[in-house]
Amino acid sequence: MQGNRYPLTVEVFPDYAAMSGRAAEIVVELLQEKPDAVLGLPTGSTPLGFYDALVASGVSLAQARTFNLDEYLGLPRTHPESYYSFMKRALYDRSDLRPENCHIPDGNAPDPHEECRRYEEAIRAAGGLDILVLGVGHNGHIGFNEPGSQWDARTRVVNLAESTRRANARFFNSLDEVPRQAITMGIGTILEARRILLLASGQEKAPAVRDMVESAPTPDVPATALQLHPNVTVLLDREAAALLHR
Ligand code: F6R
Repeated sequence: MQGNRYPLTVEVFPDYAAMSGRAAEIVVELLQEKPDAVLGLPTGSTPLGFYDALVASGVSLAQARTFNLDEYLGLPRTHPESYYSFMKRALYDRSDLRPENCHIPDGNAPDPHEECRRYEEAIRAAGGLDILVLGVGHNGHIGFNEPGSQWDARTRVVNLAESTRRANARFFNSLDEVPRQAITMGIGTILEARRILLLASGQEKAPAVRDMVESAPTPDVPATALQLHPNVTVLLDREAAALLHR
């Protein structure tokens, strides 16, 4: 793999609440320095505690801009499992974020490829992401960049891996209801964030965390791309860190 390789900075916390609190603290410090910071944000189970801690901190998001990593393709925005609905519940409706500053790809755009170009342009016009918070999939995906994704990829339409659809089926009535495609920021988009925080919790993430931190960068484990970024902090609870050697 080309480019400099940097060891990932790893912080391990006794439990999920402590890990989530630390993530919120880092974002609050950024917002205190730069109230109009541009935040890249994830959905999923992992960041719920982070959003709770961010809201509990009372920090103002009135000037902040947010860009979500991804959205399912073809799910109405109002569907309870759209990532837009998730963000409304987790943050938008619980903070002073302005609706016009909350960005998330439109999974129902008439031309999804044009929507991807528009989204990239909106990130650029906002000045780029000051910080991007990520989770990691069991298969090492970041955003919905599944194994094999190109590292210079931009925001685009992707097919979800079957293992990802199965993992996310817990939120739907059946596997059949889980969308097969999504719009996601690409790894190239992700690596342009000025700072990255990756959160992982629970023993089922331990193999992906070990590969992300200890394997040589490989497209088979998309999260290893983070080793090419000079400012990544990996926040883990003890279970997620269990398979690390150092
Ligand atoms: C979500 C996202 C995904 C999740 C990953 C882990 O916006 O981009 O990469 O971060 O699938 O999901 P959870 O946290 O539900 O285990």
